[in-house]
Amino acid sequence: MSNRRTFAIISHPDAGKTTLTEKLLLQGGAIHLAGEVKARGAARRARSDWMKIEQQRGISVTSSVMTFERDGITFNLLDTPGHEDFSEDTYRTLTAVDSAVMVIDAAKGIEPQTRKLFEVCRLRSVPIITFVNKVDREGRDPFETLDEVADMLALDVSPQMWPIGMGGEFEGILDFATETVSRPEGPSREFLGKRDADAAIPERFADEIELARGGYPEFDLEAFRHGDLTPVYFGSALKNFGVTELIDAIARYAPPPRPQPAGEEQISPDRDEVTGFIFKVQANMDPNHRDRIAFMRQVSGTFKRGMKLTPSGLGKPIAVHSPILFFAQDRELADTAEAGDIIGIPNHGTLRVGDTLSERNQVRFTGLPNFAPEILRRVQLRDPTKTKQLRKALDDLSEEGVIQVFYPDIGAQHIVGVVGQLQLEVLISRLEAEYKVEAALEPSPFATARWIKGDAKALEEFASFNRANLARDRDGDFVFMAKSPWDVSYQVEKNPELTFSATKER
Ligand code: G4P
Repeated sequence: MSNRRTFAIISHPDAGKTTLTEKLLLQGGAIHLAGEVKARGAARRARSDWMKIEQQRGISVTSSVMTFERDGITFNLLDTPGHEDFSEDTYRTLTAVDSAVMVIDAAKGIEPQTRKLFEVCRLRSVPIITFVNKVDREGRDPFETLDEVADMLALDVSPQMWPIGMGGEFEGILDFATETVSRPEGPSREFLGKRDADAAIPERFADEIELARGGYPEFDLEAFRHGDLTPVYFGSALKNFGVTELIDAIARYAPPPRPQPAGEEQISPDRDEVTGFIFKVQANMDPNHRDRIAFMRQVSGTFKRGMKLTPSGLGKPIAVHSPILFFAQDRELADTAEAGDIIGIPNHGTLRVGDTLSERNQVRFTGLPNFAPEILRRVQLRDPTKTKQLRKALDDLSEEGVIQVFYPDIGAQHIVGVVGQLQLEVLISRLEAEYKVEAALEPSPFATARWIKGDAKALEEFASFNRANLARDRDGDFVFMAKSPWDVSYQVEKNPELTFSATKER
């Protein structure tokens, strides 16, 4: 069985993803610090050293992928930027993982961005392990947090541990499986790794713990792997509490590389051919280098450096001589990689998001979605003689996955759609730098879009009534441009013979 675990952390900004990532990397031995690994300051410095390396190499792939090892398991942690730089990349990254850790702030519960990312995981039934963070601080009642997860996400919750008190009252964490208690120690109340088997749990917590133990479904591997049940861990990333238990849970329960859909077929990780798909392309922001790194999720086979792979978009093979593997501190040149691994492939724009790479050029992975844009803007050209260049640029960039483009049925203006503001900034700067097109973005009357499907007659009828809200995407498919979410529900109700879809497979 494969020893790869390829996962992402999903959370709302500030819930503690960065802190937890650092702790996972430290425990996995990926960041080697001289001396103690306690000081957060030291961990911070380690991180910035590593960013300097990235800068010197002129390409910022910092923390896009982090690989670490522990007890014979190789973990590939894929970063899902969750801050201002939220973009479609974030969503697509989730198509390249086999499981996700959902970090929740113990005081805040499920927040909007956690929920959005969760919905994307659900599209592909990605199994979720929940980590309730910051139990060293005053938080909500853990029952309330669990009920919220269960209700808001329609997910069974199965606590594997329980915090004994919180904040000032915090006594430690009881592990249900081993019946041991981990306690904070020393003046800084950090977790030093001791587990106390005979720990007397203060009487006043006895009832609560009994209720917690008995009141929720037992862990069920099958249900977890289907994305129907989440095991819940409690801890403090800052104080390094519960992190070991979390890593153990990922090692033990998170699925090894899963088969990936390719049309009617499922491509198994055991297939005797290297196959993979590109889920992200990172352009070098340095205008002197047109280099890009395409991130390939390997689906099957054993990759060897120098191997020839055929990109589906190109049709002729390319030799992959300098692939990049992502060990957290140094990016190492990959010699071999297995199913579940991520390989960075430097290229000059030949590889695009959604492309399949394979040895025999027979497989086409499907299911890499486009997501309904949440920000829609009209593109205003400064120099009207550049219409052609603009169209070419928008087509290229939408193919690359930077933005989505919509061509309204009425009017000549192009509309671009994104899920995060940063994508718009990237668009404008790349239009200028690479296509010499100066453009500005103006508000559009639309708030979101839905891909419409149905039989030709129904579509035609819909089109005749809604010309002003109709556009075509890059592939010429019909898109309903909605002024508000209400607009969408109204049309959905009014047109039962049509489907309005928030995602579209590439
Ligand atoms: P993010 O990547 O999800 O945005 O969160 P990040 O790890 O940056 O953490 C956000 C803030 O929460 C940080 O505080 C961090 O120290 C704190 N934090 C993370 N985990 C825990 C925890 O388990 N317990 C407690 N008490 N705090 C935690 P900050 O003040 O914004 O940053 P800093 O000044 O500490 O760097």
